[in-house]
Amino acid sequence: MKGLVLAGGSGSRLRPITHTSAKQLVPVANKPILFYGLEQIRDAGVTEVGIIVGDTGPEIRDAVGDGSAFGLEVTYIPQDAPLGLAHAVLTAEPFLGDDDFVMFLGDNLIEGGIRHVVEAFERDAPAAQLLLKQVPDPHRFGIAELDDDGAIVRLVEKPEDPPSDLALVGVYLFTSAILDAARRIEPSWRGELEITDAIQLLVTEGRPVRASLVEGWWLDTGKKDELLEANRVVLSTVEGRVDGTLAEGSTVTPDVVVEAGARLVRSHVRGPAVIGPGTVLEDVFVGPFTSIAGDCRLERCEVEYSVVMERCHLRDVPRLEGSLLGRDVRIARTERRPAAHRFLLGDHAEVEITEGRV
Ligand code: TTP
Repeated sequence: MKGLVLAGGSGSRLRPITHTSAKQLVPVANKPILFYGLEQIRDAGVTEVGIIVGDTGPEIRDAVGDGSAFGLEVTYIPQDAPLGLAHAVLTAEPFLGDDDFVMFLGDNLIEGGIRHVVEAFERDAPAAQLLLKQVPDPHRFGIAELDDDGAIVRLVEKPEDPPSDLALVGVYLFTSAILDAARRIEPSWRGELEITDAIQLLVTEGRPVRASLVEGWWLDTGKKDELLEANRVVLSTVEGRVDGTLAEGSTVTPDVVVEAGARLVRSHVRGPAVIGPGTVLEDVFVGPFTSIAGDCRLERCEVEYSVVMERCHLRDVPRLEGSLLGRDVRIARTERRPAAHRFLLGDHAEVEITEGRV
């Protein structure tokens, strides 16, 4: 069995972060999302992995290398344009050959790994095996309709009138039958070759397509709020440790990770939270569910329920909440007159201001 990880795409819902970098490398609990999937594939005993890459290919290659750091053998597969998940599968055909494979969307996280699903697929040998998760808002997802025996009858992409609340999770197990099906489908209204259409073809033709329910959490990190939620959930599983320095009365709760080289001065961190290597906090309060990456500098700030990426500088920010800051962001309060907000924001940036109402 091989692995196919999808790390291309356009990432339009996570702009402006994705104007400059890959959404699969946005950190959750200070670790790129993509790494969780790669580790779970390895833990399922799969070592030969193809990674589909698009415009952000060089950054993905820099981060993952030849895969040896994960115990994997990685082949990069450039996709000319993000023309859909089934298009990505077809692009990978020379790598996949006739082998079975597990396909993992590089921006998805699931609890508990995929070993048991890979084992079930190898034991039962269906044409495809899907993972499903009950969701409260099925119209936002690819949805599966099952018959009374739990077999898949129909798949629908983002239905207005959902036939069930069982969403397709971004992990799929396939035989090479999916390649043949993907070749025979047409692009959808959004111009993409949809994997749901290819799987539906297998179902229609009577090929065995199995489904198993994901018991734990499943997180799709395509948007800011989903990413912050993923960060919250994953941080809740992290064990605290202090390898950095707590100076001048700084305190942290037991569920906080302070990496080596980080330095807290007159600062307090209430976890779960992670503070990256080389980061300095001075007179700062960090509240629950916050990840601050390496080499940041925060002075006289309060930050809660946020993800702050590498090398950000924040000064005199009284309260930051529900925020995702990309790399090298600077936010500072100033005494300069006239008193005004001054921004230099990239395309698609979002700012919410609550003070200074006139
Ligand atoms: P999506 O999140 O469905 O698509 P996207 O990345 O284009 O994002 P947006 O909708 O915000 O514009 O993709 C799921 C995963 O699959 C993600 O890791 C990107 C990857 N992908 C590819 O590698 N190739 C593709 O053609 C598509 C559509 C997605």
